[in-house]
Amino acid sequence: MSPIIRVEDIAEYVDQDITIQGWVYNRTHKGKLVFLLVRDGYGFVQCVAFEKDLDPEIFDALVHIPQESSVIIHGKVRADKRAPGIPGGYEIGVTGVEVMQAVAGDYPIALKEHGVDFLLDHRHLWIRSQSQWAVLRIRATVIRAIRDWLDGQGFLLMDTPILTPAACEGTTTLFGTEYFDEGEVYLTQSGQLYNEANIFAFNKVYCFGPTFRAEKSKTRRHLTEFWMVEPEMAFCDLDQLMEIEEQFVSYIVQRVLTDCAAELKSLGRDTAALEQIAPPFPRISYDEAIEKVGAIREQTADPELKALLQITWGDDFGSPHETELTKLFDKPVFVYGYPTEAKAFYMEPWPGRPEVCKSVDLLAPEGYGEIIGGSERISDPDLLLERLHQHELPEAAFRWYLDLRRYGSVPHSGFGLGVERTVAWICGIDHLRETIAYPRVINRVYP
Ligand code: 4AD
Ligand code: MG
Repeated sequence: MSPIIRVEDIAEYVDQDITIQGWVYNRTHKGKLVFLLVRDGYGFVQCVAFEKDLDPEIFDALVHIPQESSVIIHGKVRADKRAPGIPGGYEIGVTGVEVMQAVAGDYPIALKEHGVDFLLDHRHLWIRSQSQWAVLRIRATVIRAIRDWLDGQGFLLMDTPILTPAACEGTTTLFGTEYFDEGEVYLTQSGQLYNEANIFAFNKVYCFGPTFRAEKSKTRRHLTEFWMVEPEMAFCDLDQLMEIEEQFVSYIVQRVLTDCAAELKSLGRDTAALEQIAPPFPRISYDEAIEKVGAIREQTADPELKALLQITWGDDFGSPHETELTKLFDKPVFVYGYPTEAKAFYMEPWPGRPEVCKSVDLLAPEGYGEIIGGSERISDPDLLLERLHQHELPEAAFRWYLDLRRYGSVPHSGFGLGVERTVAWICGIDHLRETIAYPRVINRVYP
């Protein structure tokens, strides 16, 4: 019996007899030859069946084999630069085939153009297609890189709760649910508050899990359920935070370039734009960012863009502002010092300028916009209490959080990186719905 290989490792098996187990992705028939593009979950490879090498019955079955039929293929690996596939450059000369199931009827996602709603209704099948497969493999690599970097830098993984008694990121995007005799609780918007407790026990920590926002916005950048990694550090100010973020993001991008070269190529991603992602990243203040957006607005001849870029000091940036801003830079750009009013309750005020806070967002280039939100946190107990009241947050639910400022308070900072936004940027795709296997948006929970 020849060894069962993974298509991603095919380069190691040139001129050897092998077996692959997979599904027929595409088929073409030319006289005495059948070309099958077969996917095995690890890649896509061209398999060439010659009439004279096979039993007539088997060859005949291959001539008609429907898309997505499951097969076990035996054959010999050949290097051939022209061979399509992922990674491509190799093909299998077929010596035997076992058909596990020949698909009866038409596969819903034939290899032609489909509308996005149709594809999303068939997401359970759509993930088999080359582009979606590549994006989801890159997503897994991004997650692996996140964990590897943080684990290697002394951050301890802490699992923070999903059912929470209080809001972290504003009360307008909470998903509530009744919780026995305890009243209403909410699906977590962020594990940050718990991580602020965790740093006093473990110094540097991160949580990494699903996060929920009842976002009423139907934009391509918002999901109602998304994955966020949130590192939090004791004895860390805003400048140190930015240094950590730029190292972290650069590592993730470089890992994907190394580990997912074939996937990026299959997506047609311009990797030159990613290769230059290395520290330091440019840093501009919110005030400077407002000026730059104003200048772009002045210069544009497009009345629609002019209207979209309307902003006054004090507003948070929306997608159009971020998109235009990031076009000015080749690397991700830090925008720090946002207006206190526009941000969450827990952010440390700017010294001598209380209308501004020590927050920083990281905006990805090529128009992608915010991938990270973070800040230095308020460390003074009295100020924190004042802020809770200003934001009309229930003091009782935050008693434990206030304790953290009473027992060994220190300057501390942290951030949250959205996995889907990061994957969208790295893959160069427009919409977050393709960056997670089963996207949840305001009008979709199926499949
Ligand atoms: O800026 P946000 O809201 O920050 C926080 O939640 C902080 N508590 C994080 C922290 O400091 N520990 O969210 C952080 C990131 C955003 O930059 C974005 O990448 C992602 O989470 N994000 C979303 N991604 C998809 N859909 C949504 N609705 C998102 N909301 C935020
Ligand atoms: Mg944010």
